[in-house]
Amino acid sequence: MMDNRVYIFDTTLRDGEQVPGCQLNTVEKIQVAKALEELGVDVIEAGFPISSPGDFNSVVEISKAVTWPVICGLTRAVEKDIDVAVEALKYAKHKRIHTGIGTSESHIKYKFNATREEILERAVRAVKYAKKYVEDVEFYAEDAGRTDNEFLASVIQAVIKAGATVVNIPDTTGYCLPEEYGAKIKYLCDHVVGIENAIISTHCHNDLGMATANTMAGLLNGARQCEVTINGVGERAGNTALEEIAMILKSHRDITLETNINTKKIYPLSRTVSSLMNMPVQANKAIVGRNAFAHSSGIHQDGVIKNMSTYEIIDPRDIGLDGNSIVLTARSGRAALRTRLEALGVKVSDEKLDKTYQEFLKLADKKKEINDEDLLVLSGMEKADNHHVKLNFLQVTSGVGVKPVASIGVDIAGEKFEAAAVGNGPVDAAINALKCIIKRPMVLKEFTIQNITKGSNDVGKVHMQVEHDGKVYYGFSANTDIVAASVEAYIDCINKFSNG
Ligand code: KIV
Ligand code: ZN
Repeated sequence: MMDNRVYIFDTTLRDGEQVPGCQLNTVEKIQVAKALEELGVDVIEAGFPISSPGDFNSVVEISKAVTWPVICGLTRAVEKDIDVAVEALKYAKHKRIHTGIGTSESHIKYKFNATREEILERAVRAVKYAKKYVEDVEFYAEDAGRTDNEFLASVIQAVIKAGATVVNIPDTTGYCLPEEYGAKIKYLCDHVVGIENAIISTHCHNDLGMATANTMAGLLNGARQCEVTINGVGERAGNTALEEIAMILKSHRDITLETNINTKKIYPLSRTVSSLMNMPVQANKAIVGRNAFAHSSGIHQDGVIKNMSTYEIIDPRDIGLDGNSIVLTARSGRAALRTRLEALGVKVSDEKLDKTYQEFLKLADKKKEINDEDLLVLSGMEKADNHHVKLNFLQVTSGVGVKPVASIGVDIAGEKFEAAAVGNGPVDAAINALKCIIKRPMVLKEFTIQNITKGSNDVGKVHMQVEHDGKVYYGFSANTDIVAASVEAYIDCINKFSNG
């Protein structure tokens, strides 16, 4: 192993995909996995096979579709989990089992009602069991961030002795300070007998906004693998963002650590993941946010015009921003659409190109210039075709000094229904009208509208969460008419729980 090589372990498809409402289907997961392979990641955590048949199947299909990266399946320290993961990884050319158990006092006491000795014994047993089937076994000490270093070292030493090739030190709750996390990794390097026989991995969560700082502290103190996700997606505040680590290591020439990442593929993949997961990238997100390279103050603009290095530490071309984003119009043909989609990392079949092209023409009728962000939204919008509940028409009157009123027509399994209602605003009126037709208990829990780029003719993206029968359902739509987008997103939620 080269001492300065950092292995990138991508968990977008496992930890990243646990975000409510962001689940991908198998075809979408394969698309992301192939793009991760092209990006140059070393390990793809493809799922948690025992958790659901969908996850199991995704691990199987990704194993078949991907050649170079190691494919990893997550398990608890439970034999049945490991058996299922082994089966799911059957076709992987390079495979890894990622098994582990909670080691903090809180996990030992409340999650397992066990003792430290029992936890250590279960950890060793799981690693030995996994080792019977695969050579490459990674062990995670869940909540290592809040585990005392001495006990953590004894667990890590025991699992390495049992055969673990990688030891993962997750800051599961995102609690550690960078100095503390770095010291933890150094403690393990200094105190674990046999540590040279395993790679130490970081796995940091962003609850206090320190995931990237903690990961860097880990790497600077001896870790040589980091677990990351595209756009930093992940449960709660998310995981360490792959693009941030890759670009820190690329731009800080003083740090002699290297990855295999082809950074020019970062931007297209960021947009693909955002669009497939229906998860907007915040405008000021480091590296991949819309404003990451936008200089608006006069002083900054003046400096950048004189010399880019005055205010820009990264060349946007290094992350794949080509600076010549082609704008398509209603006169652009299918070939131009396909070329631009491919440049954005979206591979389309002829059939999908046809559907996307029809949507493209509809949008080009409403909005003269179609940009990259519009295209990514369009390419992810074919789901409405097989919806049980469909919007037929929507008419809304609103303004100053009038009571907003909406009339709506929907098609439910081929049957047509109409209703009208008032509300305290156009969206409220439209949803009230919809509720006159769909009389099921539904509570709107979250509602966000985001424009894609700028301009009053822009497409608005709407994300909604609706609670029904104690469960929360996620819906999405995009439309130049934000009231229509809102109703479509609401209907998208309804379609998720309505089965006829
Ligand atoms: O955050 C965490 O501790 C995890 C483990 C399961 C690796 O995701
Ligand atoms: Zn995690």
